[in-house]
Amino acid sequence: MNELSILQPDDWHLHLRDGSALGAVVGASGAQFARAIVMPNLKAPVVTVAQALAYRERILAALPAGSRFEPLMTLYLTETTVPAEVRAARASAFVHAVKLYPAGATTHSEAGVGDWRRVRATLAAMQEVDLPLLVHGEVTERDVDVFDREEAFIERVLVPLRGEFPELRVVFEHVTTRQAVDYVREAPGRIAATITPQHLLYNRNAIFSGGLRPHWYCLPVLKREEHRLALVAAATSGNPRFFLGTDSAPHAARLKEHAAACAGCYTAPHALELYACAFETAGALARLEGFASLYGPDFYGLARNRGRVLLRRAPWQIPATLPFGAEGIVPLAAGETLDWKFVGPTP
Ligand code: NCD
Ligand code: ZN
Repeated sequence: MNELSILQPDDWHLHLRDGSALGAVVGASGAQFARAIVMPNLKAPVVTVAQALAYRERILAALPAGSRFEPLMTLYLTETTVPAEVRAARASAFVHAVKLYPAGATTHSEAGVGDWRRVRATLAAMQEVDLPLLVHGEVTERDVDVFDREEAFIERVLVPLRGEFPELRVVFEHVTTRQAVDYVREAPGRIAATITPQHLLYNRNAIFSGGLRPHWYCLPVLKREEHRLALVAAATSGNPRFFLGTDSAPHAARLKEHAAACAGCYTAPHALELYACAFETAGALARLEGFASLYGPDFYGLARNRGRVLLRRAPWQIPATLPFGAEGIVPLAAGETLDWKFVGPTP
């Protein structure tokens, strides 16, 4: 197969940042995806519907002329988020979910939730109005090994939380382990998971091959090969609980190539190509459309897109660096060759 036409896909987990960084990255997502769930972890987190509306307007203003990309906004859950904000979000046409960051788990998570039991009233309101909860699924306890934090989150947070709110729609974001895949596959109720391209393509060796490689550092961190294989099996299984979320998380090269490197892989410019390579290697290109274009909108209760996009087998080299405001940014797998190229809307 040398050409692949699929229904226009969406990105169900994306970081767009703000200011000049936003301007530098939003066009890349808009070129490949019709819509994206936009993460609210700005330096000043997006905690109210009014802030989400203002951020949405900044995103639309930063889009290249003619783009019809639709940002699907989210709120950042804090211990002071009130049920009324949840109701206002549901009543708005543009807020589609609330994101739970365990405090201290990742970039700009300081304002996140220390203990989910303190946000019960807000979770109850979300369940009542059916506003999805998106979770960064890692515990933050120092005594838990970094590589075990996702597994611990399932037992310590996800199971008890979902036990108390069994009707709450939940997305386990960027799953990285066999345990998370098994949980999402088997758990009762309305649960789904996003999977990133880096977790399908690489195991943790990538971070340590030929030196310390900060551009492969993201959170949750890459895991062992057995986990990567479980993720590939889930993504290519045709199970609608697993769908595309790039977690493209741009940081300036200067802050990645740093003594305390920021976590996040920048994949927006070549996201679909990365996924196509992962699916092709698994012999499952025919399953890419479900994962990329069907199961996400179905889970969120949104209409599927109508147009189609084309990918072509045409090897090309990922650029070494790209502009990022006044700085540069290094895309994931910079300098490497990909077999598939995104062409654009199917003629
Ligand atoms: C994300 C970021 O930089 O905002 N980083 C990452 O490594 N994925 C935050 C997140 O999704 O954890
Ligand atoms: Zn993320």
